[in-house]
Amino acid sequence: MKDKYAVIGNPINHSKSPLIHKMFAQQTGQDISYEAILSPLDGFAVTVERLRWKGYKGCNVTVPFKFEAFLLATNRSERAEASRVVNTLEFNGDEIFGDNTDGVGLVTDLKGNLNLKFSDKQVLLVGAGGAALGVLSPLLMETPRCLVISNRTMTKAEEAVKIFHYRVGKHPSNSTEFVAKSFSELTGENFDLVINATSAGLTDSALSLPTTLFAPGALAYDMMYGRETPFMKFAREHGAQVADGLGMLVEQAAESFNIWRGVRPDTAPVIEAMRKRP
Ligand code: ATR
Repeated sequence: MKDKYAVIGNPINHSKSPLIHKMFAQQTGQDISYEAILSPLDGFAVTVERLRWKGYKGCNVTVPFKFEAFLLATNRSERAEASRVVNTLEFNGDEIFGDNTDGVGLVTDLKGNLNLKFSDKQVLLVGAGGAALGVLSPLLMETPRCLVISNRTMTKAEEAVKIFHYRVGKHPSNSTEFVAKSFSELTGENFDLVINATSAGLTDSALSLPTTLFAPGALAYDMMYGRETPFMKFAREHGAQVADGLGMLVEQAAESFNIWRGVRPDTAPVIEAMRKRP
């Protein structure tokens, strides 16, 4: 019998994860099934319980359940503890292991697929919700020259610096300047990498960012994928190279697949295949 996996979210019907994991399974010869499951907003724990009862081996978790998944896990990886959100669960008897592969997915896409070098780079992370917190710790571990976190609601960015500041001291050679700034405080500042981790693209809302944000050769990375967001358009119009989050999506999926199956798929052909799809 096939080992069963799923992705749980709400909404979930546009998820590309089943297709990605199907390609991984074919490529690595792993006999698994993987489906998308819609959970009621107030029924995440019950949905997970049902999967465990039916013998599923694990699941991915997406919006808006990543914090609930963190709370539900009975033991967690260090990176999940650091981010306080979980996108991967593995079921093992009474244990529910929680991990977060989003951050490593982003960093692998930036370094491996987009050839970005973090040393000496000035990095701006826009957003301070679950998506931003999930990638902060791995970004800090790359020791850029500075990491500025900026958010419409400034107190949340300041809170994130308080929570994650200890990560800077953890790396012996890490002298990253890690600060929170409001959108207006970004005026006159230049960044080599600007990551949009807000959900503004979902509602086609523009961010009120200064137009001078991008240093020459800067990369603007939107964690959303599937269509051009106002942030991508803004970045393109102001001289930045633009990347969407499809590479991150495939890389985080590969990391989850590796946790469950002990084999890491080759992501390049999967990213290429996903790009070609309408
Ligand atoms: P997610 O899990 O996708 O991160 P979230 O935790 O609700 O969702 O966080 C959404 C993020 O997008 C927040 O940083 C939010 O800013 P606020 O904290 O000020 O609400 C940001 N966001 C959403 N819509 C936005 C908009 N139109 N302009 C600026 N920021 C926006």
